[in-house]
Amino acid sequence: MSIAPDMQEVRDRALRKLLTHLNDSVTDQWADIAPFESTDYRDPATAVHERDRIFGEVPFIVAHSSELAGKNDFIAVELPRNKVIVIRQKNGSIKAFVNACRHRGAELVSEPSGKCRVFSCPYHRWSYDPNGELRTVTLDDTFGNFDRSAFGLIELPVEERHGFVWIIDNTQRTIDVASWLGPEMDSILESFGIDRLVSVDPHTYRRPTNWKIMQDGFLDNYHVKYAHPNTAGKMLHTNAVALEDYGRHFWFLTSRKSIDQFIGQDVSWDPSMVNHTIESCFLAPNTMLLKHATHIELLTFRPVGANPNESIMQMRIMAPSVEDSGLEEAHWTKRWKKNWDILISILHDEDFPILDGSQRALSSLDAGTMLLGRNELASHLFRREVRRLVESSSEG
Ligand code: FES
Ligand SMILES: [Fe+2]
Repeated sequence: MSIAPDMQEVRDRALRKLLTHLNDSVTDQWADIAPFESTDYRDPATAVHERDRIFGEVPFIVAHSSELAGKNDFIAVELPRNKVIVIRQKNGSIKAFVNACRHRGAELVSEPSGKCRVFSCPYHRWSYDPNGELRTVTLDDTFGNFDRSAFGLIELPVEERHGFVWIIDNTQRTIDVASWLGPEMDSILESFGIDRLVSVDPHTYRRPTNWKIMQDGFLDNYHVKYAHPNTAGKMLHTNAVALEDYGRHFWFLTSRKSIDQFIGQDVSWDPSMVNHTIESCFLAPNTMLLKHATHIELLTFRPVGANPNESIMQMRIMAPSVEDSGLEEAHWTKRWKKNWDILISILHDEDFPILDGSQRALSSLDAGTMLLGRNELASHLFRREVRRLVESSSEG
């Protein structure tokens, strides 16, 4: 039986291991090099399995709760199997619906977010309550009689936990985020207190790149100083990871170069170590959460339908609210804008061109067998989970 980890102990162990790694120029490793083929990233049948057996089976994050702070606040999101509206109910709970009118299937909501007391279809003006019930049928004395209670919006399983909104993109499933996370990751997320933070200006990108290439790119500590020599590579260590594997999800520690002052010393974890380290969580199947000294970053990746060549990446910064930060509003805004600018410039100018190029290169039919090194531990664990989900589908 696994029990919730003592994070002080986990951080302490990881910190000591990381300092030894840095001293010896080594890192945590997987048992073997793994060969792989380019078909993993362009095969249409694989993409269908991933859409259905991963995103149609397990919970993943679609928003931070603060993006739906008030009653009737909604967002519209494009998930692999469904286009979805997520909306805060009068009683504070959350519901998610397929974004399609039950009359002839028009798109009910076309804006990415808003506040709505009634969803009114643009085609023939049928309307729906925020709880999904069909409220009015236009010219109903000519339309004919039918059971309106059976023609509300189609509901998807959704749950709020640890400050995030989680969905399974399949009406036929029930959601239980705690059991999906397992006791270790559930208690780690609990300890971060993300429900007390606010999401600052979330960014969505559509990329011409397979979602796994995108996810891999942000699990990768091997590329830092080579792909980002003048930015992240200046501040962060490369190829040095201390990882705790929880079987499905995992946690790992990487470091800033300012940690070097402690190499060779007998130090233990104390709160000031957040200034020299980054704690990351991989939340299977598609999410990377990074805990920095002042904020949390969340990166999510998902395919567009069953297209192996297209994905949606969402980036979030979660920070203390203006009130909790004690900053002047203008100062607060400036601080997070600067943070976003730095993040986006690294991503846009440095990561995206490489990752998009990988997708183009892997479309070569004779690209040859490639290799994932023993040092690329996080990517091995990501593949392990993708493989497990694709192979253990309840659809068979
Ligand atoms: S399609 Fe929505 S009212 Fe006709
Ligand atoms: Fe990068």
